[in-house]
Amino acid sequence: MESLTSQPRTPADWDSLFYQPADSFFRAHSDAALTYDDVSLATLYSNIIPREANIETSLAPGLNLHLPVVSADMDTVTESRMAIALALNGGLGLIHYNMPQKQQLSEVGRVKNHIHGLIREPIKVHPQQHIGDVITLIEEKKYSFSTFPVVDESERLLGLLPGHCVRPRFASRSVQEAMVGRSLVLTIRESELGDDPIARADRFFTDNIGIHKLLVVDAEDHLKGLFTLSDIERITQERSLQTKPSRDEKFRLLCGAAISAPRAADGSLDRGNLIEHVAALVERGLDVVAVSTAHGHTLGVGSAVRAIHEVFPNLPIIAGNVTSATGVEFLADCGATTIKVGQGPGSICTTRVVAGVGIPQLTALYVCSKAAAHCGVSLLADGGITKSGDVVKALTLAQGVVCGSLLAGCPEAPGQIMEINGKFYKQYRGMGSHAAMKAGSAARYGHVKETAQKSAAEGVEALKEVSASVDTVLAQIAGGLQSGMGYLGANDLPSLRANARYTRISSAGLRESAPHDIIEVKTGG
Ligand code: XMP
Repeated sequence: MESLTSQPRTPADWDSLFYQPADSFFRAHSDAALTYDDVSLATLYSNIIPREANIETSLAPGLNLHLPVVSADMDTVTESRMAIALALNGGLGLIHYNMPQKQQLSEVGRVKNHIHGLIREPIKVHPQQHIGDVITLIEEKKYSFSTFPVVDESERLLGLLPGHCVRPRFASRSVQEAMVGRSLVLTIRESELGDDPIARADRFFTDNIGIHKLLVVDAEDHLKGLFTLSDIERITQERSLQTKPSRDEKFRLLCGAAISAPRAADGSLDRGNLIEHVAALVERGLDVVAVSTAHGHTLGVGSAVRAIHEVFPNLPIIAGNVTSATGVEFLADCGATTIKVGQGPGSICTTRVVAGVGIPQLTALYVCSKAAAHCGVSLLADGGITKSGDVVKALTLAQGVVCGSLLAGCPEAPGQIMEINGKFYKQYRGMGSHAAMKAGSAARYGHVKETAQKSAAEGVEALKEVSASVDTVLAQIAGGLQSGMGYLGANDLPSLRANARYTRISSAGLRESAPHDIIEVKTGG
């Protein structure tokens, strides 16, 4: 880079004097920590068509996303519905841990079983049950379907109970009386599914007009699975869409779950409880576990990461949060594959106000990125993302972003919609708010649930205006990201990181960066 004392000779010299790559830019600004709105990215020569820019990312060996967005493990952001929506859009949801462990297992189970080519454990009924029992089952479990395979005690297929017979007027009749007998039920042998079960099932549904379920059996006629027409149609459609869902090798949606570092009565890590719960999550098909706390550079978090890594060496581990290079190195040495960076940038955070700590996000990401590259781990930029431009800036230094506020208003986020003065809102609260800590997240902030009310809260309880669906919000983020990549001549995320040139902007520059001096009649969102 040219110094100010030497006269730049070429146009490129002029550019590099004012628009600097990460190393020179952040070192030159080491006296002030910077965040998204403090900088802007300079454009570069490009032959990239934005919609063709590849936004795939890898968070860990075997953990690849088509969209570098992770939904925050917060109790007003990610439960199964949000995680399903994220995975269907190519991202990843982290199920929060402010719920009983058993419930977290079933939330993960819901994501993993959402739509997969073959439902391996379909819900079955037995011939001696009454239709009334089946109706109760549907109501209790909130099933959205009412056609069930009928099996005997050894899981041998006996027939199919059609949905049109599952009506209160037949409540006292037996399943045996209502079912379609085995000889009339169309099935396929597991061994006949071949290399592409989806294509095979698709062909079956085309050949058999009016049939909506295809049962899979083994050579002894034991039920081995079920395809439904609607699943197959969705999956076939997905294959032709630009948006590719994040799936595991069994074609199930990817799912992550967060945990804290549980403590025994004497304050030490409750290793037994931790390993037992992670084992149960893994058994449900969990793809990545997140040891999620406000301060990850600690003995407790390190011990939890180490314990998980020892028992599950192939399970990707997200750990955090940190804002220092030594914090990244520490967690990487303990076995984490992906480090969450962010202390205090979140929209509902008060950590900086209450504890006086935390680092503005871009400087934190730069410092952490140096250790991440050295240790071979990836980074997630967690908190403070308010617009797609922030995502572009974050991804110049990290492999993915974690979003809370941007997703909390979506219908897929947990919680009721409330109307206030004719506007619709959803609750959004910090996991360090009194209410959330009381519900279970106190450990994340180093407190205990029972006395959470007396502890210093590090988050607020807030409302978010109800927003569009996750599909729409993520499409806007992906579109903005691809635009940014187009401006920087980056055809993929590694090129975005390599190409990024930063410049510091003034408060007048920031004002100029958003719509100004107009009466806005339609927002860009
Ligand atoms: P955004 O800005 O997307 O941030 O709403 C979400 C992230 O904020 C973190 N988080 C908190 N930080 N006190 C904090 O200091 C809190 O109560 C709190 N709750 C969540 C978390 O990292 C999340 O992903």
